[in-house]
Amino acid sequence: MPWVVMKFGGTSVSSAAKWSTIAEVASWRVDEGVKPLIVCSALSGVSDQLENLLQAATWGKHEPVIQGIRDQHESLANELAVPFTDLLEDHLGGLDRLANGISLVGEYSPRLQARVLATGELMATLLGAAYLEAQGLQVSWVDARAVLTSTNQRDASPRARVLSAQCTSEPDPELRAHFDQGDGVILTQGFIASDSNGETVLLGRGGSDTSAAYFAVRLEAQRLEIWTDVPGMFTADPRIVPSARLLKTLDYAEAQEIATTGSAILHARCIPTVRHHLIPIHIRSTLHPQQEGTVICALPDEGRPTVKAISAKCETVLVSMETLGMWQQVGFLAQAFQCFVKHGLSIDMVATSETTVTVSLDADANSLDDARLSGLLEDLGDICKAEVIAPCAAVSLVGRHIRAILHQLGPALEVFQEQQVHLVSQAASDLNITFVVEEASANRLVERLHALVVRPRAPSEAFGPTWEQLHGGPTAPGTVDLPWWRGKRDALLAILENRPSAFVYDLATVEAAIEQLQAMQAVDRVFYAMKANANARIVECIHRGGIGLECVSRAEVEHVLSLCPKIDRRDILFTPNFAPREEYAFALDLGVWITLDNLHPLLHWPELFRDRTILARIDPGHGRGHHEKVHTAGSQSKFGVPLAELEELRRLADAAGARIVGLHAHSGSGILSLGHWHNTGALLSHVAEWFPDVAALNLGGGLGVPERPDQSALDLQAIDESLAPLKAANPTLDLWLEPGRFLVAQCGVLLTKVTQVKGKGDVRYVGVNTGMNSLIRPALYGAYHRIVNLSRLDEAATDVVSVVGPICETGDRLGVDHLLPPTEEGDVLLIADTGAYGRTMSSHYNLREPAEEVVI
Ligand code: LLP
Repeated sequence: MPWVVMKFGGTSVSSAAKWSTIAEVASWRVDEGVKPLIVCSALSGVSDQLENLLQAATWGKHEPVIQGIRDQHESLANELAVPFTDLLEDHLGGLDRLANGISLVGEYSPRLQARVLATGELMATLLGAAYLEAQGLQVSWVDARAVLTSTNQRDASPRARVLSAQCTSEPDPELRAHFDQGDGVILTQGFIASDSNGETVLLGRGGSDTSAAYFAVRLEAQRLEIWTDVPGMFTADPRIVPSARLLKTLDYAEAQEIATTGSAILHARCIPTVRHHLIPIHIRSTLHPQQEGTVICALPDEGRPTVKAISAKCETVLVSMETLGMWQQVGFLAQAFQCFVKHGLSIDMVATSETTVTVSLDADANSLDDARLSGLLEDLGDICKAEVIAPCAAVSLVGRHIRAILHQLGPALEVFQEQQVHLVSQAASDLNITFVVEEASANRLVERLHALVVRPRAPSEAFGPTWEQLHGGPTAPGTVDLPWWRGKRDALLAILENRPSAFVYDLATVEAAIEQLQAMQAVDRVFYAMKANANARIVECIHRGGIGLECVSRAEVEHVLSLCPKIDRRDILFTPNFAPREEYAFALDLGVWITLDNLHPLLHWPELFRDRTILARIDPGHGRGHHEKVHTAGSQSKFGVPLAELEELRRLADAAGARIVGLHAHSGSGILSLGHWHNTGALLSHVAEWFPDVAALNLGGGLGVPERPDQSALDLQAIDESLAPLKAANPTLDLWLEPGRFLVAQCGVLLTKVTQVKGKGDVRYVGVNTGMNSLIRPALYGAYHRIVNLSRLDEAATDVVSVVGPICETGDRLGVDHLLPPTEEGDVLLIADTGAYGRTMSSHYNLREPAEEVVI
C-alpha cells in the first residue's frame, strides 16, 4: 500500500476542532487505501515560549514560562479528553530540570537548546496520538529522532549542525518495510532529528515541512500533503489582494520561487527534497478539508510565458556600495563580499553598475541587528562609500519565461512612475523579475501589478477561484466588519426609491469620530479641514462638537459664516495656497487665523500684515500619504516654506511687522503610520527656536482611515501617547490637528442603481447611474472603496466584476475586481467610506448631475 505523508502545522494542532479534522482526514486516507504518516508541529506559540524559557532560565525566572506552557497543554488535553498528567508529566518535569540547570550556569549550549525546543513537538504528538486512538484509529507514535539522522555537515558551524541540521533523503526500503508491518496511522514530530551520536538536533526554520519531505522520500510516498489554515497558494497575498486567485497547479520550480520570494505557506527548503524524487506536494486547508487546494508537481513546460504570482518580501535591507575603484579594477567585489562573509550575512540579490554595487539582505536568512549592520558598514567603509537602505520590500513577478513577457509589462511598469526602485533583478533561471522598493509602497505595488498582469487571465487548469469567492466576502478573516450601514439597510434602500443615486451621511458616525479626537489629551485644538466634506449638516455637527474649521478658500470661509454666524473668528483657520491677494486681505480683516505657505505675500504685500499675528506653513521635506498626488511636502510639492528659507521668513515677517505665533506642517493625506504626527511636532518644535512668539504647533491633518482589508484603523490613543513626551518637553506650546478625512470618510456611502450589466472578454461590467462625476477618487488615485450589492446583501457573492459609471472616459471605474452576488438592473450598490472627498470633488462632467446628499 502506498504511503501518504501529511504535515500539520502549529495552528492546525492547537484545538480539539483541528484534531477532529486530523482524525477525519486520516480516516479518509485509510479508506482511500493509502497509509498515512502524520507529521506535527508544536502547538501554536509553544516554540516561541520554549525560546523564551531558555532566556528566562538564564536569569532564573523560568517558573512562569513553564507554567504557561503547562497550562496551554493542559487546556488542550482537557478539550481532547485525554489524561494530561500521564502523558506529559515526564516532559514537563524534564523541562523544569533543564531550566534549573541553565539557571545554575547562567547560559545554555545549542545542544540544550535543541533538547528544550524538541519538547514542544513531542508533547503535541503525545496528546494527539492519545486523542486519535480514542477516536478509534490505530496509531503508532514514533519518535522522529529514531528515524531521521542528520548528516555530518562538515562546512557548517557546530551551532548550525545542531540547530539547522540536514538529513539524508534517499528512499529507505528497510524503513518502509518496517512501517508497512503496522496497521493504521503513524504519528510523529516535525522539526526534530538526531545526530550520529543519538543526540537531539533541530532542522531549523520551516523544519516541520522539511521533516515531512524527508519522510515522504524515505517512504517513497505517493504524495506529501501540507495541511494549513489557508486553502492553497495564491497569485498574491489575499490580505493585500482579495481578488487573488487560487493556483490550482504549480511546477516545483515555480512553487520554489513563490516560496522564496515571500509566501509563508510552504517552506522553500522542503521542495527540492521531494522534487528530486517527483513526489507531488498537495497544499490543503484544515478549515475546508474537502477543497482541492494547490498541487505542486512536475508540469510540462509549454514554452509559453506566464506570470503565476506577485509576491512581496518585506523587511528587506539593501546595502549600496559606491566606489570609483571598481571601474576596471580587479578584486573589488571579492573584497566587498568578504566583509559580508566576515559578518555572517547571506546575500540575496545583487545589482552592479560601474561605480555602484547594491545587494539585498533577506531578513529570513539573516539576523539583521543594528550592531551587525554597523560592523559591516565600518568594514566596507575601508573600500567604498557604503549605505544601508531600509526598510525595503522585494516585489517579484513569478512565473515561467518571464523574459519573454517583458514587452507586455509596459503598462505595469508605469506603476514605477511613483516609486523609487532601488534594485531590479532578473535571474538567469527566467523564473522571476524582482523590484526592490520602499516597504511602505509594497502592498500598493503588489495590488497594481496583480491587476495588470495576473487578473486578466481566464480560468484554467492553473488559475482557480479568487480568495473572495472561496470565502464568500471581501473581508479578510479576523477583520471586524460592522459598518453602520449594515443596520440601516432598509432606510438606505428607501432613499434610493425615488433617486438614481445619493451620498448618504450618518451623523452618529461623525459624532463618534469627534469624540475620539476630543479624547486626545496631548492635543489642545482640532480644526476640521472642510474641503473633505462641506455639507451643511456635517459642518454644523462638527462645529457643535467643539471643533474649529479649516478653510482653503474665501468661499469656504463664507460658507462657515453663513452656517455658524455666531462662530468665534478664532475658530476659523484659513490656509490659502497661491490664492489672490484679496483673499488674504479679506481673511485678515475678518480676524480669522491665517497660515502663510510661502514668502510672496510678505515680500510683495507687507502692508497687509502689519501688526498681524500669523502662522507659517513649513515644508518638512518629505511627503506622505496614500498616493503621490496627495503628498504635500518635499521639493515636488507646491506647499510650504522650505527649511532653507526660515531665515528669510523671519526677516520678512519682522520687516512687515507681523508676528509668527504658530507653525504648521501638513505632509499629506491618508497616513496610517502612528509616529507621523510626533515626528512632525518634533521638527516644528526645533523650528520654533527661530520664532520666539510661537505658541502653537499645528501638526496638520492626514489621519488615514483603512481602505483595503489588510489595513487597520489608526489607534488615536497610541498617537496621543506618542505626542505626550513632545507636549511635556514643550509645555508652552499648544498642539493642533486639522484632520478632514478622519472625521467624515466613514460616515458616508454612495448609493447608486445598476443600469446595465455586460460581459466583455474575461471582464464582467456592472454599470451604475453615477460614476467619476460623483466619486473621482478611484480614477484619480486608484483608490479602493468597498462595494456591496445592498439589494442582495445576504446573497453569496460569486461574480468578480468591474463597477463602472456612465461617463465617457475609460477611467470611469468605481471599482475593479469586486466580488458581488449575481447583479441585475435596478439593484442598489453601496460604495463605502465615501464621506470624504466624494461630493466635494464631484463635477458636472458630461453634464451629468453628481449624486445628491442626504443626511440621516
Ligand atoms: N490640512 C491641509 C493643509 C490640507 O491640505 C488637508 C488636505 C488637510 C488638512 C486634511 O487632510 P486629511 O486629514 O483629510 O487627510 N482628495 C484627496 C485628499 C486631498 C487632501 C488635500 N488636503 C483624497 O481624496 O484622498
